Amino acid sequence: MEKLLHIIATPRGKESRTLQVSEAFLEAFKNKHPGWTVEELDLSKEQLPSLTVKRVDGKYVLLGGKDLDGELKEAWEDIVAHIQRFLLADAYLISTPMWNFSIPYMLKQYIDIIIQPKYMFRYTKTGVEGLVKNKKMTVIASRGGEYLSDEARKLDMQEPYLRAIFGLAGITDITFIVAQPMDMGEQIQRQKIQEAQALAKEAANSLD
Ligand SMILES: Cc1cc2nc3c(=O)[nH]c(=O)nc-3n(C[C@H](O)[C@H](O)[C@H](O)COP(=O)(O)O)c2cc1C
Repeated sequence: MEKLLHIIATPRGKESRTLQVSEAFLEAFKNKHPGWTVEELDLSKEQLPSLTVKRVDGKYVLLGGKDLDGELKEAWEDIVAHIQRFLLADAYLISTPMWNFSIPYMLKQYIDIIIQPKYMFRYTKTGVEGLVKNKKMTVIASRGGEYLSDEARKLDMQEPYLRAIFGLAGITDITFIVAQPMDMGEQIQRQKIQEAQALAKEAANSLD
């Protein structure tokens, strides 16, 4: 059975604007793909491992092309479990607000945990090779402000960052759906959520 991993990076639950859009996506997705399971990974509820010095040491061992053993291997068990959970999915949905022009820290911590050499990417003579092949990602984002003008776009470190970091892992087929502006009045908020919900349904229906 194929699996969509829904990674949630807002702590706001029912108050979340991002999740209102994601719900529309998931409703359409489940109708279109009745055979798929959807697994939720709520990063604000998850006890993510912190990158202690031992875990960071392990990363450098892997970067040096060696395998982990002994203490370092043990220290990496939680990291490997998160990587495996990610890799077991066939497609991804990330629900994330913009925080300080970028992503919330729990999503950054998750990325720091899972994007690892040997598992997600490797160095070759011709450069970096992403190891996560043929998997699609949808990112549903919401923002208090609006980042559409050339000037405002320069402040958006959310979309370019997520494209770059998952691109490094080989996930290059990424659809972004953005609800914005969310904090400039209720009427525009409602309208922009509805527009994003329509785009989210379309995206869910066109995923194969
Ligand atoms: C800590 C924090 C930082 C934020 N930083 C930004 C920001 O840099 N730019 C912006 O447009 N909105 C910012 N916002 C507003 C949120 O992006 C916006 O309200 C969003 O719709 C919240 O999504 P949610 O309801 O799904 O949590 C911030 C909100 C919080 C709580």
